[in-house]
Amino acid sequence: MTILITGGAGFIGSHVVRLLVEKYPNYHVVNLDALTYAGNLENLKDIEDKPNYTFVKGDITNEVFINNLFKKFKFEGVIHLAAESHVDRSIKDPLAFVKTNVIGTMILLNAFKNLWENDFENKLFYHISTDEVYGTLGQIGLFTETTSYDPNSPYSASKASSDHFVRAYGETYGMPYVITNCSNNYGQNQFPEKLIPLFINNIINNKLLPVYGDGNYTRDWLYVKDHAVAIDLVFHKGKNKETYNIGGFNEWKNIDLIKLLCLQMDEKLSRKKGSSERLITYVKDRPGHDLRYAIDASKINKELGWKPSVTFEEGLNKTIDWYLSNEDWLANVTSGEYQSYYEKQYG
Ligand code: NAD
Ligand code: TYD
Repeated sequence: MTILITGGAGFIGSHVVRLLVEKYPNYHVVNLDALTYAGNLENLKDIEDKPNYTFVKGDITNEVFINNLFKKFKFEGVIHLAAESHVDRSIKDPLAFVKTNVIGTMILLNAFKNLWENDFENKLFYHISTDEVYGTLGQIGLFTETTSYDPNSPYSASKASSDHFVRAYGETYGMPYVITNCSNNYGQNQFPEKLIPLFINNIINNKLLPVYGDGNYTRDWLYVKDHAVAIDLVFHKGKNKETYNIGGFNEWKNIDLIKLLCLQMDEKLSRKKGSSERLITYVKDRPGHDLRYAIDASKINKELGWKPSVTFEEGLNKTIDWYLSNEDWLANVTSGEYQSYYEKQYG
């Protein structure tokens, strides 16, 4: 089987590529990535020479290129992760999110449909989405697969739109698909613009920790390798036209998570207890900031037997250790464009 993974040089994608390349030597895994600021081939150094792995640099919004790629490789399965993925960037440049997340997804859907329209048997388009499409929860309740879409940020609106197109291709053209909506991921190789790696990097460099608003926002955190395992499972066992929510059963208020992170960082860096916490600074809130995300992952648990394998404390420990022993990786990704992004976002 030849499968296409889009966005495989990014954070989650690189863990999915590694898992599939190593677990299925009989599959040919093609990783297509435009290598934007968020894509980094360093993430896949350890597997780049495997005979069942091919990297292709290219943009999912380039229709001619994508059509030719599908004709050349005849992908039987697609796992689509490529996206613009950061809410703060979507607030500054929403159109970039429409281009990649909506139009890019459409171009992939068309290429896949045109290739297999007369024989969809044993083919699958797997679209990776987010819990953010459901909007925000109040203090209670969980997102289930039947929660209505109610996106609040340009990022989540673009992901919601792409989810709808995937469903529409299933209904209209009979294209086999699955969609998963996952909660916040954390772990190694995450670009330091998202909360956890940003704060790890700032603590290492004794920089302020910018907490949006009062810090009483809640997210449900999942270790990235557990997400990759779920993706493998859904790709092989998920039912056609189904959606599965994936989450960590692990809700944290931002400020509590940040305090735990500070404590662990003080220990790891042998700094005086409380030194990292002193870097916390409350800054202007994110516009349209969703109060709370929390996933009911009982469907994927009951139907496919998936559950997270590590506790948050274990996962966070491993994550911090990885960043501390990969300072070159951090230094590379935080040079160049990162500096001007940081300046614009945080002043
Ligand atoms: P990421 O930003 O780390 O990686 C995205 C990858 O896509 C990068 O390698 C980038 O180079 C590539 N890419 C971007 N635009 C492209 C284009 N036009 N053509 C080809 N490649 C392009 O993102 P991530 O955090 O790994 O997220 C991956 C997917 O998972 C996204 O679809 C995201 O919406 C979804 N998701 C992420 C999270 C999370 O917490 N990170 C949670 C749920 C769902
Ligand atoms: P983030 O990692 O950007 O993920 P998402 O917005 O997709 O949930 O942010 C996680 C939470 O942390 C969110 O409530 C916003 C907050 N946050 C801060 O308080 N400060 C920051 O500098 C960042 C990047 C996020």
